[in-house]
Amino acid sequence: MNSPEIVTTIVALRSRIAAWRANGARLGLVPTMGALHEGHLALVRETGNRADKVIVSIFVNPAQFAPHEDFDRYPRALQSDCKKLTDAADLVFAPSVEEMYPRGFATQIDVGGPSAGLETDFRPHFFGGVATVVAKLLIAAMPDFAMFGEKDYQQLLVIRRLTADLGLPIEILGGVIVREADGLALSSRNAYLTPQERKIAGQLNLILKEAIAKLRGGMAVVESETFGTKALRDAGFDPVDYVAVRDAATLEKINDLSRPARILAAAKIGGTRLIDNMAV
Ligand code: PAF
Repeated sequence: MNSPEIVTTIVALRSRIAAWRANGARLGLVPTMGALHEGHLALVRETGNRADKVIVSIFVNPAQFAPHEDFDRYPRALQSDCKKLTDAADLVFAPSVEEMYPRGFATQIDVGGPSAGLETDFRPHFFGGVATVVAKLLIAAMPDFAMFGEKDYQQLLVIRRLTADLGLPIEILGGVIVREADGLALSSRNAYLTPQERKIAGQLNLILKEAIAKLRGGMAVVESETFGTKALRDAGFDPVDYVAVRDAATLEKINDLSRPARILAAAKIGGTRLIDNMAV
């Protein structure tokens, strides 16, 4: 059994990586906020299939939470996370907030393009915080590729844009969404759901599937969005932030299915905000 080594500083991370690079190793990075579930572990395993060395970062990034959001109660489980990574990852990078944002830190990466609308309408701080921390992680590790879950589909496109625009020679790969038996996408935030809320949560994916069926049956894009929003409200989600059918590559608004499309949704149950998306 091989437990991953844990490093907490960028200097230590770079020194391990330099040694691997000197031996010609191909490196894959999986950035996470910890509280690892099967969705993360699938990304880590897929990374292991494509790389000689697998690095997982675990950092609950304060910059992507607004003051009223769940930064303080976000689950943290470094020890059990590292156990789950036994034989799957070679190195865990688990920096402190001070390591990532030292005194005087004053830089923010602002990505346009795919960050417009959707999540940004409801969490305007979010992509600035994600882009800044992901840029720092990519520059610190300089892997050959990094993997992100498709559950955060808009985030994946924002990170692709950022990597291309900054000219980082790193391939950005998306990993498929892992779901519970009823279709609920795995998320560290599912732990907040009461048993009653958990039952309702399973409807999110079913309703997206119904909306896709209606779209394929000829329903107009706007009507399918209205259908999805109403169905989620009827199921007990409140508020429904959005149900949107967008261009799968750019997230631009579309009127028909002449280009590959993606349906995306965000809605709250109780205090818990869930997101999901599917290819149309
Ligand atoms: O998706 C996440 O877990 C986070 O947003 C990420 C990409 C690790 C950045 O903090």
